[in-house]
Amino acid sequence: MNTDQSFEVEIERILPGGMGLAHDGDKTVFVSLAAPGDRVRVKIEREQGNVLFASIEEIITPSPVRIEPPCPYFGRCGGCDFQQLTYEAQLAAKSEMIRDCLHRIARLENVPDIVVTPSPNDWRYRMRATWQIDREQRTIGYYERGSRRVCDVVDCAVLRPELQAKLEEVRSTEWNQFPSDLKHLDVVAGDDGVSFAPRIGEFQTNELSLTVRGEVYRYNAKAFFQINPSLLGPLIDFALADVTGDSAIDLYSGVGLFTLPLSRQFKRVMAVESNSTAARFARWNLRDSGFDNTKVFTANVAGWLSDVSTRDVDFILLDPPRAGAESAVIRGILDLHPPWISYVSCDPATLARDLRKLFAGGYGIESIAAFDLFPQTHHVETVVRLMA
Ligand SMILES: C[S@@+](CC[C@H](N)C(=O)[O-])C[C@H]1O[C@@H](n2cnc3c(N)ncnc32)[C@H](O)[C@@H]1O
Repeated sequence: MNTDQSFEVEIERILPGGMGLAHDGDKTVFVSLAAPGDRVRVKIEREQGNVLFASIEEIITPSPVRIEPPCPYFGRCGGCDFQQLTYEAQLAAKSEMIRDCLHRIARLENVPDIVVTPSPNDWRYRMRATWQIDREQRTIGYYERGSRRVCDVVDCAVLRPELQAKLEEVRSTEWNQFPSDLKHLDVVAGDDGVSFAPRIGEFQTNELSLTVRGEVYRYNAKAFFQINPSLLGPLIDFALADVTGDSAIDLYSGVGLFTLPLSRQFKRVMAVESNSTAARFARWNLRDSGFDNTKVFTANVAGWLSDVSTRDVDFILLDPPRAGAESAVIRGILDLHPPWISYVSCDPATLARDLRKLFAGGYGIESIAAFDLFPQTHHVETVVRLMA
């Protein structure tokens, strides 16, 4: 295959990971920034076995769900890869992506329809970001697609207004005020301002708080906090609905988003988190809310599970990072064998990989829901409730 060659294809659907699927003879073609139903002329970027990775050179017939991406950085900035789709089409593609993973990877035969709850704001929703900084080029923003070059972003349309205002302030700061080794800046907003890590001059690592379903969470930019606050209530409601009992475990617990409501619903709770700043905030959050039935362990989940002596566990919630749970974590959960599990995931592919092991260990799906925490991108949050 001559990679200089361009040719026409029709986009069949959007795949997990966000690429459009097409075929050219016996070759499978993955097309970036596509819409299902597009007729496009594509250019091959690289070839891997039978798969060609391609970009769009010309849109011959646009899909009925294609729109003009409103952001001037679209296509160059690596941040948003779904702006070419109407919001309804984004939600439909996400539902299909989850179903695809459950069918192909988890080998689930009868995959239920999956409702993706829309974000109340599909723009200006992001309350957490990492801004990449290139001192030599004097650029601040996000990595460009498929590269480590920094796309210089003046206005990011998915940032909440208070973060956009801070981006402008950071951009207008004299370059000599940034430490010479500064590569990126983590920022997070809360009810009471914005927090930065590392701290630079007036941009401090402030402690913030956010109230969700009546629980008050404190955190700063050094600890994980969810990106889109507007769907956190429904996410918690679904993951924890009707689970009560003596003992629950919250794995990958962060600053305690699920730990606090679990402490209301169970007599005893154990939470496990490896980031010491996040674990410390979780302890403060529990103490400030008057919970004394919960212990937070600063530990790696796999190691902690291999040492835990508890046997009677009624419920486990796990919310791992994008890579999913390590094999040892799934083995540890199967050893404990709680009657109920809620698996919260931001990557349908690793979720499906782990579910396959949990199915083999005797669990079945009670219900599934998805929440669009990340509009304008292919990312989606899925919650699977399992029962033994
Ligand atoms: C997706 S976040 C979820 C946090 C929390 N449940 C929430 O919703 O805010 C994953 C968390 O797992 C932590 N983490 C990552 N790998 C870990 C590991 N191997 N053991 C323990 N915690 C880990 C991260 O620091 C992060 O706080």
